[in-house]
Amino acid sequence: MITPTGRLRLGVNVDHVATLRNARGGAHPDPLRAALAAVAAGADGVTVHLREDRRHIVDEDVTRMMAELSAPLNLEMAATDEMLAIALREKPHAVCLVPERREERTTEGGLNVVGEHNRLAPLVRELVADGRRVSLFIEADPGQIEAAAEMRAPVIELHTGGYHQACIAGDVAKIAFELTKLREGARRAAALGLEVHAGHGLDFDNVGAVAAIAELAELNIGHYLVGEAIFAGLGPVVAEMRRLMDAARGGDAVDEAAS
Ligand code: PXP
Repeated sequence: MITPTGRLRLGVNVDHVATLRNARGGAHPDPLRAALAAVAAGADGVTVHLREDRRHIVDEDVTRMMAELSAPLNLEMAATDEMLAIALREKPHAVCLVPERREERTTEGGLNVVGEHNRLAPLVRELVADGRRVSLFIEADPGQIEAAAEMRAPVIELHTGGYHQACIAGDVAKIAFELTKLREGARRAAALGLEVHAGHGLDFDNVGAVAAIAELAELNIGHYLVGEAIFAGLGPVVAEMRRLMDAARGGDAVDEAAS
């Protein structure tokens, strides 16, 4: 576990290195190489989303990451029997359950933990019993947070997509609204004993306000880092994100073991 004022962990999502690789159907660029570079530059862990349509990360990537990565792997996946079997076989450090729709470009919205309790609860139970650190990717909605706690998922990840969209639009009132939602959601979740993560659409400009939320233990960031790496290289980009996150915590980062 991490104390609220402790070091905010950075999980680097390398999905879009695989997107680029798959555009030519070969082996380059290799998401495992990117994962190793990200860890060398200061990432605390690596995140991959094995989508049902395998549009970027494929099964073999997960197997290779598990074999060759010493940092913790966070496997994002839909709550399906197929994905459950893969998680139980590969045994990543963490599993983040996400909603998935084939036609979406990226994960839009969070899980409906309230409405899908009967489908999600057995999966959460089985993954927790297997020793995976299970998180539920949800909107910062009080009902969803309470349902996640009742389901005994040890971690939630708050969807920062609404905040990201408000930042793109330059809508100051919406930015304030979304940040308040995230802050109150993180506080409520922590009070219920949940470890709280956040992610989606975070970049150099918008990460500070989120990283400053004291209850957050981890951020998962992918698309921006991979895109920016084209211009500056993955190592420097990860290092800069790390620096911005630490600065938002007052620069008093305390190194603690990953939970
Ligand atoms: N967290 C979760 C649960 C996600 O699904 C994603 C996108 O795959 C991210 C974080 C990272 O989002 P982005 O690629 O926009 O940084």
